[in-house]
Order: sequence, then C-alpha cells, then structure tokens
Amino acid sequence: MRIVWSQEYELGIVVIDRQHRRIVDLINDLDRLVGLPDARQGVERVLYDLVDYTESHFDFEEALMERAGYQELDGHHHLHRQFTFHLEALRQRHLAGEDVVEPLLRMLEKWLLNHILEEDLAYTEQVRDFINGIGKERLGSWVNENVRRHFRQA
Ligand SMILES: [Fe+2]
Repeated sequence: MRIVWSQEYELGIVVIDRQHRRIVDLINDLDRLVGLPDARQGVERVLYDLVDYTESHFDFEEALMERAGYQELDGHHHLHRQFTFHLEALRQRHLAGEDVVEPLLRMLEKWLLNHILEEDLAYTEQVRDFINGIGKERLGSWVNENVRRHFRQA
C-alpha cells in the first residue's frame, strides 16, 4: 500500500476526513496497478476517478470554508487549482502514451499529505467552530445539499 492512513491526517471534521480517505484509496488503487501487465486501461479509469473526485472534493471543501467565513479561501482555492492543473497535465501525458504512473504517485502522495497537514489544518479550527455552532441538524442538511451539488460520484 502506498499510503497508510494515519490519525495524524485526521482533521476531526468527519465529512472532510472521509473525502481525504477516499482520495488516499484512489492513490493506493493506482499504486496497485504499477508493474501489472495491461495496466493502461485500469490506470486510465483510476486517473479519471481521481481527477473527478478530487475536483469535487475541492469544490466541497471550498464551499465549507466559505460558509465558515474563512479568510484565506482565495489562497487555498489557488493551491487547489494549481494541483488540479498538474494532475490534469499528467493525465494528458498518460493519455498520450507516456508512462507517468511513478512520477504521478510521488506527486500525489507528497502534495496531498503536505496539503492536509499544512493548508487544510490551517482552516480546521475555524471550520470546527462553525460546525459546533450551527447544530447537527442544520449541518446535516448543508452537507447533504453540498454533496449533491458538488459530487458526481458517491
Ligand atoms: Fe484543501
């Protein structure tokens, strides 16, 4: 397994932690395909899911930061866009026939874990305060509505 999820990556925001774990699962799915014969199609499918799910997660996370009134949203949004741009560029190189899986895995692993431990951690306190203040029921309907709005995959 490429990345073993550890408590150190938990922000204590259940809905976000669940999404981060899903991204880690997709990275591990990609890792499992390394060196397998006829992996191209599998890599293509996982890459598609990874791009799609990551973009959805970023949109959701940004909506949550905005709702919580987080001031550094613009900078955070910019980092998300940079990452999406890199990921899509690597996906295009893969589609053009290049073997990009190893550099891709290194980039994904390094970026995601650093991002969680630094930039995501930076919004955590404010988002948690917002969550504690809004009440379970209203939070639940906000989460449901925004999952529907931003995610194509469950
Ligand atoms: Fe983020």
